[in-house]
Amino acid sequence: MAVGIFDSGLGGLTVLDAVAKRLPDLPLVYLGDSANAPYGVRTPDDIYNLTTGATQRLFDAGCDLVILACNTASAAALRRMQEGWVPEGKRVLGVFVPLIEALTERQWGDNSPPREVKTKHVALFATPATVSSRAFQRELAFRAIGVDVEAQACGGVVDAIEEGDMILAEALVNSHVDALKRKMPEPDAAVLGCTHYPLMAQAFQKALGPDVKVFSQAELVAESLADYLERRPDMVGPGTASAFLTTGDPAQVSSRATQFLRRQITFDAA
Ligand code: DGL
Repeated sequence: MAVGIFDSGLGGLTVLDAVAKRLPDLPLVYLGDSANAPYGVRTPDDIYNLTTGATQRLFDAGCDLVILACNTASAAALRRMQEGWVPEGKRVLGVFVPLIEALTERQWGDNSPPREVKTKHVALFATPATVSSRAFQRELAFRAIGVDVEAQACGGVVDAIEEGDMILAEALVNSHVDALKRKMPEPDAAVLGCTHYPLMAQAFQKALGPDVKVFSQAELVAESLADYLERRPDMVGPGTASAFLTTGDPAQVSSRATQFLRRQITFDAA
């Protein structure tokens, strides 16, 4: 019984942590592709190939259900995977939909037609590949009308976080928020559309000011996964052991992960 959680690197740990708190008895196998991070500056084909390879590794580790805890992979590869790659009996879910359902005040899985919602001006912070995919705007258009989205591609932030350089990450967050505000001076809400960014949530909130509601994905994804598994308990795979796997240097990745989650995390080579 294990569910797989995939990210290009360390960012998906924000999702893993929230899932582990919400579903403490569920074994989780985490795979971070740190050797190939960041994905956000790669081409869609490249992201697709890396993401299918990593997802297969998680299927092989006993997971029937894999969460792409990476917006870049969800935006650039998920639809193509669901349309022609995911094997019979396996499922791959992304992280956009729970976030957009929360933003548009919907119940999980409510597929009714788009309607007017309270939030009118949304600032989206994401990687360059996620921004250029326009996947967020597409998913939003299925659920809400009249919402203005201004997207800011936050180059460099993922690299700085992966390197553990939080001072640089904060400086970059400030400059990306300034750039966004020049285009949209008064957003009602901001979406942290990259699973690395919750590690910088305070910096985003401080730069945006107290009146902007900041949505980040971890808890939303955990809640919608709990709801999904209640409806589809058969999707908890045959694996029984939790594990942390990385394509990067296990010692270095373990030490960064321990620093981020403030508990001992030990990665093994994928
Ligand atoms: N955490 C990934 C995301 O949500 C990071 C992307 C990257 O590797 O650039 O988009």
